[in-house]
Amino acid sequence: MKAVRARVSPEFMVIYRISSIDLMDGGMTGEEVAELARRVEAAGADMINTGIGWHESSVPTMAAPVPRAAWIDAIRNVKRAVGIPVMASNRINAPDVAEEIIASGAADLVSMARPLLADPEFARKTRENRADEINTCIACNQACLDRIFTDRVATCLVNPRAGREIEFDDSKTTAPKHFAVVGGGLPAWPLRSMPRSVVIGSPCSRQAISSVAN
Ligand SMILES: Cc1cc2nc3c(=O)[nH]c(=O)nc-3n(C[C@H](O)[C@H](O)[C@H](O)COP(=O)(O)O)c2cc1C
Ligand code: SF4
Repeated sequence: MKAVRARVSPEFMVIYRISSIDLMDGGMTGEEVAELARRVEAAGADMINTGIGWHESSVPTMAAPVPRAAWIDAIRNVKRAVGIPVMASNRINAPDVAEEIIASGAADLVSMARPLLADPEFARKTRENRADEINTCIACNQACLDRIFTDRVATCLVNPRAGREIEFDDSKTTAPKHFAVVGGGLPAWPLRSMPRSVVIGSPCSRQAISSVAN
């Protein structure tokens, strides 16, 4: 940290990421994590970003069964240890959850990874009071992490444009077609309002079929 600080100008912001809870047998205690954070601050970091666990941790840290903001106590432990801003992360996928964290004083900022793959307009929609239009990350890990761990480009199950933005053509087709999505679950739900589409094979599709025109 000191070497990095010495190399860059004082205006250059250095953010240091630490795992706020190891979740490993024999890993650091909460007090040891707090001490690391204090030393990182003393060495010149401008801000601390918190991760959770390690890839080797046997406890799920960010999969769907992990409740939103589940790790906030570990993040608060870091926040209490230092005077520089602390950023929360992991399973914070909705603006109200993020706001609650900041309002509670557990962190100063929130960083999101997968929610921004699912919806790059997340911040804009929040700012414009359109949070209900956010395409929410479902924490499946199927198209993002599972892909990068097999040397493929990350994309998103609920947003196939992610990582392929320039491959998609947004122009309107000159040859519209009728189509059916068979076996559509929640990911097919937005199609319910599209003309020329029928979604078959899930509880929500019954309403979808009745609401589809053409
Ligand atoms: C495609 C992808 C790549 C990631 N790469 C890194 C990385 O290189 N270093 C790191 O500390 N965390 C990495 N992460 C973890 C995220 O920083 C974040 O901690 C994690 O995704 C949980 O937050 P989220 O629920 O907002 O996605 C990555 C996550 C994803 C989805
Ligand atoms: S594939 Fe998309 S929805 Fe699934 S975890 Fe990754 S970002 Fe979230």
